[in-house]
Amino acid sequence: MSTSTTTSTVSSATISGIQPPALDELDPEERMSRPELEALQLERLQWTVRHAYENVPLYRKKFDEAGVHPDDIRSLDDVVKLPFTTKEDLRQTYPFGMFAVPMERVARIHASSGTTGRPTVVGYTKEDLEHWATLIARSLRASGVRPGMKVHNAYGYGLFTGGLGAHGGIEKLGATVIPVSGGQTARQVQLIRDFEPDAIMCTPSYLLTIADAMADAGVDPHSTSLKTAILGAEPWTNEMRRELQQRLGIDAVDIYGLSEVMGPGVGNECIETKDGPHIWEDHFLPEIVDDSLQRVPDGTMGELVFTTLTKEAFPVIRYRTRDLTRLLPGTARPAMRRIEKITGRNDDMIILRGVNLFPTQIEEIVLGLEELTPHFILELTRKGTMDDLTVRIERHPDLSVEVCQGSAVVLAERIKEFVGSSVAVKLEEPGTLPRSEGKYKRVYDLRNQ
Ligand code: DLL
Repeated sequence: MSTSTTTSTVSSATISGIQPPALDELDPEERMSRPELEALQLERLQWTVRHAYENVPLYRKKFDEAGVHPDDIRSLDDVVKLPFTTKEDLRQTYPFGMFAVPMERVARIHASSGTTGRPTVVGYTKEDLEHWATLIARSLRASGVRPGMKVHNAYGYGLFTGGLGAHGGIEKLGATVIPVSGGQTARQVQLIRDFEPDAIMCTPSYLLTIADAMADAGVDPHSTSLKTAILGAEPWTNEMRRELQQRLGIDAVDIYGLSEVMGPGVGNECIETKDGPHIWEDHFLPEIVDDSLQRVPDGTMGELVFTTLTKEAFPVIRYRTRDLTRLLPGTARPAMRRIEKITGRNDDMIILRGVNLFPTQIEEIVLGLEELTPHFILELTRKGTMDDLTVRIERHPDLSVEVCQGSAVVLAERIKEFVGSSVAVKLEEPGTLPRSEGKYKRVYDLRNQ
């Protein structure tokens, strides 16, 4: 097997001093050359397409309507012949209509709550769970976690894929799992002090809540045993990474995934490069499509689409994630492409007087202003036919109201300058805005109230 990777020679500039994994610690698939990987992908794609066609009536119907048959998939590029799958398809077949194996073979079910309508339900065979654990273990290793380390898992346990998904992989790696789940923040702080974990898994916004709770409890966030944080499940910016790394003295690494495709661990950043999650391409085939659903070349922004390559119970074909990003060449894992850090979904885009705006753009600007806190929410209101956006942000507890007012004015100016839209900024008292306990609700749409 050719091993053209330079992983072991990438110099480690980690904050915690954690070393990236050596070449011989990686899975064989992570060391494949691109041609080897693509050969594996094609074999698995052909299997998946046939499996979906033969066992899921909705896929058979959609393929037949599109005039495409599993035999037509002769190269990886042939994937473009296949119809897309959307969340709506999953809703229509609720709860188990997209399962491709008999129920007796389904070892676990998860569901995503969904903000509207029915939840989407996904299933896993024992083999699927095994693959998932392998990919979480791989993601953890890329994040600097090693067998024997302790991992505080604050992703929610239950139907959400975060908690249990991460759990299986922590065990598989040979690390010690501390299955805390989300919430009860003061208790989380206590457990971090007492159990001295090396790593924490939670959403970035929740880590911010935990850091505040540490300060409230008189614990210096810098002084804990934590070295690395594996953060995901919501969009976050490099500015937020800097903030968390600085406050906690840790490395903050991005983990990406979605329930419909597997859950956490579809891709993960490497601690030595922190340059966007590598997609674990031996299990998932990514594409980017534009607004007219045409595939675009690597490097071009668009909607991320996935076809699973190994999933038995719940294969997905060209699943439209709604996440906006671009595909980039591999770095720390040269054969596996990366995605640019996801900073928005096309359904959390705010259109304000004709200007497109993502909450993460505001996050980026807020975190660039030291006199402001990272605690803010966005409120959309309507006066007549005009939409208005108000940024409600907590003032810094250690600074005077006047200084913070000045920064609020600067914030409004910068948003106007960089985003192109006028917004109102309202200063709030410290500790008054809602705190995250998982995925943070940043936007409140009050237009129809
Ligand atoms: O949030 C799975 C997950 C759990 C990923 C824990 C990472 C860690 P869902 O609830 O189905 O699954 O939500 C999936 O969350 O389409 C993205 O919009 C967003 N998302 C997930 N990870 C990231 C990330 C889980 N690292 C949806 N950056 C996805 C940005 C993310 N957005």
